[in-house]
Amino acid sequence: GGKEAYGAVAISRADQKVSQEDIERVIEEAKNINLPINQELLDMFPREFIVDGEAGLTDIEGIKGIKLEVKGLAVSAFSLYIKKLMDAVTSADLSIEEVFISPIAAARAVLSPRQKELGVAMVDIGAETTGIAVFEEKRLIHLAVLPVGSANITRDIAVALQTDIDIAEEIKKKFGSFIFKNKRKKEKIKLSEEEVFEFDSQRMVKAGKARALEILRLVEKELKKINKQKTLPAGIVLTGGGSNLVGLVDFCKNQLELPVRKGVCKEFVGLENDPSFSVVLGLALLGSTDIEAVKTNSIFASILNFLKKLTP
Ligand SMILES: Nc1ncnc2c1ncn2[C@@H]1O[C@H](COP(=O)(O)OP(=O)(O)OP(=O)(O)O)[C@@H](O)[C@H]1O
Ligand SMILES: [Mg+2]
Repeated sequence: GGKEAYGAVAISRADQKVSQEDIERVIEEAKNINLPINQELLDMFPREFIVDGEAGLTDIEGIKGIKLEVKGLAVSAFSLYIKKLMDAVTSADLSIEEVFISPIAAARAVLSPRQKELGVAMVDIGAETTGIAVFEEKRLIHLAVLPVGSANITRDIAVALQTDIDIAEEIKKKFGSFIFKNKRKKEKIKLSEEEVFEFDSQRMVKAGKARALEILRLVEKELKKINKQKTLPAGIVLTGGGSNLVGLVDFCKNQLELPVRKGVCKEFVGLENDPSFSVVLGLALLGSTDIEAVKTNSIFASILNFLKKLTP
């Protein structure tokens, strides 16, 4: 999704020929655009230049005139974020509704009414997405799904160690705690009876930590949008498979300066220790009538409307 951008300047040189500087100025002018909240302009792509009313020009340096105009497309960071999110949605074979219901479902499974009353952010770290649902006085006050998750940590580890995804995944699960509390330099993991993979754990730590930090920074940014970054009495509840990363809770506590705990669903016996099931269990607990109710929630509805307008 882009937005029409328009700029106009007076051609500055005495000989009235368009200079490179005029072109830069008119583009800057076109970047002065009113974007909806939460959107940052990334770039402006000129489609056509207009010199003294003559439209459709592309190569204009040296053309004589008095007034220079440009029309083009302004691309905002938010639309790039949406694109990434849409890619994540499509690759996970889910609908937008399903993706945005997930954090609410997880919240139903792991949050207590008391936490929702006090003010709490549920952060569901999945594979490709991180869902955030913030509640206060029992109401949903913010909902976001970030197109980044624990699979990004795995991929970064794979790149850092020059190994494949499956090995990186195994390393993340087995040595994940090192990311926040590194002990040794060399580590090895047994792949099969005869095969052992040896790796530099510092590299794994560096890659994993950077990505974990990025996810937490994005969460913080969401909390800032609603002015809750330091003021959530019941703090942050982490859930989803990604929250299994050992040490993440404390890391999050230190980074975001809020109380942080891991949230699991207590209403199903046997699954109470695995946060991977929070969404599924939450959906079961919500039931179809509740889900219909969620869809009519104003925050939920406005996000869906916005996203649906963007999808072809
Ligand atoms: N012990 C562990 N340590 C670190 N990460 C883990 C652990 N167990 C699972 N994960 C990670 O959790 C992620 C899967 O979490 P979850 O099952 O919540 O995702 P999902 O709901 O399928 O994905 P999405 O929400 O993106 O659609 C995977 O990236 C996996 O590597
Ligand atoms: Mg999930």
